Amino acid sequence: MENRVIKIGIAGLGTVGSGVLNLLKKNNEEISKRSGFEIKIECISASDKTKKRDCDISGLRFYSDPLEMIDKESIDILVELIGGETTAKDLVIKALKNNIHVVSANKALVALHGNEISKISNHNNSDIYYEASVAGAVPIIRIIRESLNANDINWIAGIINGTTNYILTEMLKSKKDFNMVLKEAQDLGYAEADPSFDVGGIDAAHKLTILSSLCFGIPLDFNSIHVEGIEDIELDDLNYARELGYSIKHLAIGRKNKDGIELRVHSCLIPEKRLLANVDGVKNAVVVSSDAAGPTLYYGAGAGSLATASSVASDIIDIGRKIISKSSNSIPFLSYHNDELKNKRILDINEIVSRYYLRIRVTNKPGVLADITKIFGKKSISIESILQKEDLINDTNVPIVLVTHEVLEKNIIDALKDIENLEVVKGKIVKIRIEELDS
Ligand code: HSE
Repeated sequence: MENRVIKIGIAGLGTVGSGVLNLLKKNNEEISKRSGFEIKIECISASDKTKKRDCDISGLRFYSDPLEMIDKESIDILVELIGGETTAKDLVIKALKNNIHVVSANKALVALHGNEISKISNHNNSDIYYEASVAGAVPIIRIIRESLNANDINWIAGIINGTTNYILTEMLKSKKDFNMVLKEAQDLGYAEADPSFDVGGIDAAHKLTILSSLCFGIPLDFNSIHVEGIEDIELDDLNYARELGYSIKHLAIGRKNKDGIELRVHSCLIPEKRLLANVDGVKNAVVVSSDAAGPTLYYGAGAGSLATASSVASDIIDIGRKIISKSSNSIPFLSYHNDELKNKRILDINEIVSRYYLRIRVTNKPGVLADITKIFGKKSISIESILQKEDLINDTNVPIVLVTHEVLEKNIIDALKDIENLEVVKGKIVKIRIEELDS
């Protein structure tokens, strides 16, 4: 093989970009020993050359405009780590059209524009790999595309946002306030540029959009996902859940059932005995349940500089191998061949069936519980357990915690509307779905 050097350009030198630079330098020899070629960073691009960063950029050709970099440089692979949907999209499309392969960590780009980008990639015989876009160091895309590709996948459930998992873990462990923990996650480089994407569930929904296409052979459709964040979860809920034998985790769930596919991102109570319930801090974990392999679990760092760089580097190596061996054999972008991707019925959140944890703040007086259970009775909602908690600070209003048996989401929403209208009920009822994750 005459050409044993793969030339790359890196656009974006934030947390992940710096990590890729550092990793390729640190493990350069190791990578060559495994791959049989050298990865050479030819050029880099970022908006500000003088910005203080955790990597050494000396000796690398620098561009403040990544599109100019693509035009002027002769590279085999563009590594897009800018994030967002504007410049990143133009850049990736331009690279693919110029027959430059692309590695990206950009979940928003893949989730929102992947259908279009995939067509351009096919048309130009240029690949785009995106392992780092979901679950950081956990190779979940490779697993679904390459290791579970003989399986019919029934459901997938995962903790795929490191920031929210870090916040929920730290709130319970160190009793720190939500904003303080969020600031820590930002300082550690886990959070998105706009942290409301993490806290509000958007980041996890981008990732579930990608995973659900890979699992179920449906085109990417971000709007089909039901999205909730962790904003309503209070320390009390984390403690009450624990008393009941559960952990609260922010989950992304995709599940085929007889009527269609459920796609949802929200907080859940998970029985403490499940492995997912014990995934703490910035760690991510994904369970994939499929017909032949059964349930399999993948776990690791969901964010962070070197951890995410590890996935980016593995994509560079995979594409490099293809270039060196002059192979034209591509793994389909979304696991299924493009013309095999078919729209399927996605269930509305009202159509799902679940058990529910409910926290209701009520006036502390006789008959309140009877008023509430009467409404549940009318809607045929059966209660599994009730905890009445004391509130040492405000004993005129006290929390009641209820767990229901399985019920249609629409029925619980209707019941909660009526209950919230009772004079004795104060404020919004906290409703968290319970996921057994056992079938
Ligand atoms: N903000 C993301 C997270 C980064 O917290 O998981 C990794 O995608």
